[in-house]
Amino acid sequence: MQDKTHLVDEITGHRRMRRNRKADWTRRLVQENRLTVDDLIWPIFVIPGSGIVEPIPAMPGVNRMTVDKAVEAAKEAADLGIPALATFPNIEMELRDATGSNSLEKNNLINLATSAIKKAVPNIGVITDVALDPFTSHGHDGILRGNEIVNDETVEQVMRAAVYQADAGADIIAPSEMMDGRIGAIRRALDAAGHQGVGIMSYATKFSSAFYGPYREAISTGGLLKGDKKTYYIDPANGTEAVRDAALDVEEGADMLMVKPGLPYIDICWRLKEAFGLPTFAYQVSGEYSMIKAAAANGWIDGERVMLETLLAFKRAGCDGILTYFAMDVAKLLAKR
Ligand code: PBG
Repeated sequence: MQDKTHLVDEITGHRRMRRNRKADWTRRLVQENRLTVDDLIWPIFVIPGSGIVEPIPAMPGVNRMTVDKAVEAAKEAADLGIPALATFPNIEMELRDATGSNSLEKNNLINLATSAIKKAVPNIGVITDVALDPFTSHGHDGILRGNEIVNDETVEQVMRAAVYQADAGADIIAPSEMMDGRIGAIRRALDAAGHQGVGIMSYATKFSSAFYGPYREAISTGGLLKGDKKTYYIDPANGTEAVRDAALDVEEGADMLMVKPGLPYIDICWRLKEAFGLPTFAYQVSGEYSMIKAAAANGWIDGERVMLETLLAFKRAGCDGILTYFAMDVAKLLAKR
């Protein structure tokens, strides 16, 4: 007499995937990927002044902080074991101009933040961006001449800004402005200035995305931006082009690669890791963060579980780490386990 079990075994050939899923201990034993605090890079927003922590309405739970408060936050992050911060400045409007000239001020907000953080918390890595958008009156990442974001002149400027950032103590320069040739130019400029030890994390594949909306509110570029960034960011339709763009950055000397945004481009994470084997990071951007927060606030999803699931997805896709606004929440959660 055949029972139901035997009928199933005829099909599965005695292979049953559920054996390894049957208990918490088996599941823990066979778990392939794990999220740890070592995977986290925390992006923070810095504002001028002192003693201020102000919420960003479009990013619930994320604040803009003055340098002194950013130092406190950095200490807290380091105590939790977060390896690195990525800093973004909200520059005073009066200091923004057509060429983003404040990016070349040695003591601008971003460099003040770096030196204060590195002085107080030497063991946390500081990653700085050299894109010009926080500094320009038009919100573009490069210099605008007529209707064009000019490539070579922008590269010339960002490589100089990179040297000032390294002088201030930045450990890794992360150029996000997607100009051609920037990685090689920044590498040569850093080396010439004696900064051989400063790394480059290339925003190798940065897509022309609608997911950056809340970030633009955070650094007040949203209202300024004229047109879009399609002439320098990658078309969301193009995966092979993204791999080619990353290949150039690898050739030019990038130490690490980044994919941005994260979850909608998770195939690119996998492709870059497979193609180059470099340390590869995903930037779970503001819109990704805010969508989870908004749905959770409505009670439509379990925000904590969705947060962990998205971050684990990056690990499964081959990422070595994630830039995420959830970094502190996750670090606290993991510390409790
Ligand atoms: C621009 C820059 C962007 C982000 C960081 N630097 C994109 C943009 O404004 O076009 C987005 C980060 C986020 O959305 O979290 N250099």
